[in-house]
Amino acid sequence: MKNYENVVIFNHPLIRHKIAILRDEKTSMKEFRELVEEITTLMTYESLKDGVPTTEIEVKTPLETCTQTVVADNSIVIVPILRAGLGMVNGIHVLFPLAKVGHIGMYRDEATLIPETYYCKLPQGIENKLVMLVDPMLATGGSACDAIQLLKDKGCKHIKFMAIIGAPEGVSKVAETHPDVNIYVSTLDRCLNENGYILPGLGDAGDRLFGTK
Ligand code: PRP
Ligand code: URA
Repeated sequence: MKNYENVVIFNHPLIRHKIAILRDEKTSMKEFRELVEEITTLMTYESLKDGVPTTEIEVKTPLETCTQTVVADNSIVIVPILRAGLGMVNGIHVLFPLAKVGHIGMYRDEATLIPETYYCKLPQGIENKLVMLVDPMLATGGSACDAIQLLKDKGCKHIKFMAIIGAPEGVSKVAETHPDVNIYVSTLDRCLNENGYILPGLGDAGDRLFGTK
């Protein structure tokens, strides 16, 4: 895959360790859910190191009053792509408990792999916030591209997209379609199979999170 200025592939050893367990078909639904949350928290920490919205507050220590910089919790909106993106929400809420959550519902048509949008509910004022769009799987890139376009059509200007596992074709597609969006992927897998599943991947993230298979 080409190098893209707007793409960061973490390859962090702690995240790689957790992804190894996540991939294992014997990993239970409970453990899968917990791992997705933990990985998301680590990814959020890394993806925001270039800047988190902050605000100044006055703090009175036992000795004097000083001005301190704190995270502006409510300047971030989390937007999961349903269903599997839901599994990543708590991983960000651990760091930003006051972040509002918007939802974009999409499913891929199994034959064409083209995403269909079936739901969209976003918090008011989202256009001025930093939007953290999340989905564990970036396969063909169709869902992410459409979700980003939907957010842009609603006026969002600052969007970061986080996926746990990416396929090269999907990462390239999102990077090229939306060069103004920062894309964070924990690990880049080999390719897609004939059904649009990531190899080696982890299977269907939604089914593994919610026990639907
Ligand atoms: C999965 C996944 C992404 C999408 C990725 O969702 O969670 O949203 O596929 O594929 P793409 O990059 O080729 O668009 P799916 O459509 O299976 O819906 P689900 O989360 O409800 O299971
Ligand atoms: N969606 C998934 O859940 N898994 C894949 O491998 C591809 C798309």
